[in-house]
Amino acid sequence: MMNRQWVLDTYPDGAATEATWRMVETERPEPGPGQILIRVKWLSLDPYMRGRISPAANYAAGVAPGGVMHGGGVGEVIASNHPDWNVGDMAESMSVGWQEYAVLTPDLPGSAATNRVPEGVPEQATLSWLGMPGLTAYVGLTEIGRPVPGDVLVVSAASGAVGQLVGQIAKLMGATVIGIAGSDDKLNHCRALGFDAGINYKTCPDIGAALDDLAPNGVNVFFDNTGGPIHDAVLSRLATRARVIICGRIAVVDKAPSEDIGLRASSRLIVTRARIEGLIVFDWWHRRDEAFAKLAQWYRDGHIQYREDVLDGFERVPEAFVRMMTGAKQGKQLVRL
Ligand SMILES: NC(=O)c1ccc[n+]([C@@H]2O[C@H](COP(=O)([O-])OP(=O)(O)OC[C@H]3O[C@@H](n4cnc5c(N)ncnc54)[C@H](OP(=O)(O)O)[C@@H]3O)[C@@H](O)[C@H]2O)c1
Repeated sequence: MMNRQWVLDTYPDGAATEATWRMVETERPEPGPGQILIRVKWLSLDPYMRGRISPAANYAAGVAPGGVMHGGGVGEVIASNHPDWNVGDMAESMSVGWQEYAVLTPDLPGSAATNRVPEGVPEQATLSWLGMPGLTAYVGLTEIGRPVPGDVLVVSAASGAVGQLVGQIAKLMGATVIGIAGSDDKLNHCRALGFDAGINYKTCPDIGAALDDLAPNGVNVFFDNTGGPIHDAVLSRLATRARVIICGRIAVVDKAPSEDIGLRASSRLIVTRARIEGLIVFDWWHRRDEAFAKLAQWYRDGHIQYREDVLDGFERVPEAFVRMMTGAKQGKQLVRL
């Protein structure tokens, strides 16, 4: 029995392309003691993976050329040497990798653990609103952003895996929500989810002026998923004691560090006494149960809706990654095997 895998071919210079990876076939692995073997059904495409295919130092180890691409997924257990896991169980893990079969070690700690897919939700939800992106939105808002009724919150990459949740949770917390995204269709989706206003950063001639119109008293909470020009425009419009969550920097992740010229808004930070805090979701893994219970309740109550973009076929995983990074997809990017 064979296992198809996508391995990193070479580190990309700039944006990743489909040629960044190549497909190989290897023997299907066997689970060792305490391990399970899954047939992968879903793979998750996430921007953090761009950092894993760079030789630069990061908060987690990367993939070396020739290595199987890292990634989270969901699959069905087809062999088990673990007393708590049976054939037919559905498993989710951040350690699946881009392959058709994966051996998992359920008892590993933290984000390396294997989790059961709960009853009553679509199994792929464990890769999105009931998974890592859901936890990111939840802790970013409840721990760092802490919006209160009357606050104005701005979220960038607003229609994506994290952004669409940030806006919906912030509405539940009483904020007025402005989403920034790359198409009118994406902004219409955000409006349908309850966001109050939107800015299309690709067609808007002046993001700062648009923010001045929508938030004349400034921005109280900024959930920054992109960095870049959106970050600069929002940071110079913070309200007094604003909170800024630095979650992602997809707008600059493919650029050389020398292209960035630093903290342009520092005078505004002094005037407003604003706080900026970086977020790494893996620091908050111990809050998963609490976050997922809350998210599941909101979902059951109809407060959370979620858009997915599903490509079918293992062959299309690199294509899906490029779609996700460039914004060619709608909502959360997944591949169904
Ligand atoms: N810190 C953490 O622990 C953590 C955890 C999860 C995610 N994140 C970060 O959160 C951000 C969103 O992640 P996600 O999984 O929800 O991805 P996503 O929003 O579903 O997909 C990424 C989106 O970023 C937007 N984008 C791409 N290039 C851009 C640019 N130059 N300027 C502005 N927007 C751009 C695109 O949407 P448009 O069409 O709107 O341009 C694209 O679809 C990423 O930066 C990611 O690294 C961080």
